[in-house]
Amino acid sequence: MSGAGAVTTARPSATGSAAAPDFPGSTPKLRLEHVRKEFIVRDAAGGRGARKRFTAVEDFTLDVRAGEFLTVVGPSGCGKSTLLDLLGGLTEPTSGRILLDGSPVTGPGLDRGVVFQQYALLPWRSARANVEFGLEAKGVGRAARARVADEYLDLVGLTAFADRYPHELSGGMKQRVAIARSLAFDPEVLLMDEPFAALDAQTRESLQDELLRIWRTTGKTIVFITHGIEESVYLGQRVAVMTPRPGRLQTVIDVDLAGAGDAGPSGDASRTDDGTADHSADDTGGDVRSSALFGRYRHEVWSALHGSPTQAQGAAAGTQEDAHV
Ligand SMILES: Nc1ncnc2c1ncn2[C@@H]1O[C@H](COP(=O)(O)OP(=O)(O)OP(=O)(O)O)[C@@H](O)[C@H]1O
Ligand SMILES: [Mg+2]
Repeated sequence: MSGAGAVTTARPSATGSAAAPDFPGSTPKLRLEHVRKEFIVRDAAGGRGARKRFTAVEDFTLDVRAGEFLTVVGPSGCGKSTLLDLLGGLTEPTSGRILLDGSPVTGPGLDRGVVFQQYALLPWRSARANVEFGLEAKGVGRAARARVADEYLDLVGLTAFADRYPHELSGGMKQRVAIARSLAFDPEVLLMDEPFAALDAQTRESLQDELLRIWRTTGKTIVFITHGIEESVYLGQRVAVMTPRPGRLQTVIDVDLAGAGDAGPSGDASRTDDGTADHSADDTGGDVRSSALFGRYRHEVWSALHGSPTQAQGAAAGTQEDAHV
């Protein structure tokens, strides 16, 4: 492992008119270019029927490279879901551009799977039929649909609930159905809005590890929104930290946890065979989340959220920060 594990990789957010590429020489999977999103809202002070502009996202510029796992963290109401809706093509930027493989996003597509903050299941369909939804849109036949749906329901631990309707499921179960649905039709890009927030800690941790495994084996590009500082560090190769409303990009923190789960003399327990970081708990009992390196990253994200991106550099592993924004 790297030993000292210095955490000094934050960079300031892009400003100015030119959107310099984050990854020169390659087309990013997703590109946000000076994205601004305004809503027209009621203006109570302006009298009856008055309206005003409300800026939810401001001058947001960021590239996401193909196969990257990017987490986005920011305070409640800072524009995270708005940003995900924009990436999903469900709304359009007021100004700026969003590119997918170099082409402007013009609407939703089967190339992007979205897990919404609020389940968004079809209430008249069973769990299995909800998971089959995207497969139907792709023209997959009935038998194959049922097989794939059952496979993904099994993955999220809901085999016994395949025939239940959404109103017969708990909040966490509904969210797991939504996750299974987004994975089942195999989109290149997964856009996930706090997908594990409603789950108990144990289920959350096992789904986090499952998501990391899926990401490593499929090469999907994942944009994952979370309130959880620890979750952002555990999952993300980079953590994009947003400012309070209107949401701007405060900073992007590179995370490299390779070696963070080392359990002593037995060696480099948290690396996979190909040398990439394996964040999940390993066979030797290494606990990535308890490592000093993990603590330093957590502290850096915490500091960025509190408005001082450089204060973490050289600091001891933080103990005072909250786990959530
Ligand atoms: N359709 C809309 N019309 C008007 N205002 C909106 C609309 N959607 C979102 N907003 C406002 O934009 C801001 C950002 O909302 P958004 O849902 O993106 O925040 P968020 O970061 O996802 O918050 P949370 O962490 O609580 O989910 C909020 O102030 C919200 O009231
Ligand atoms: Mg939200």
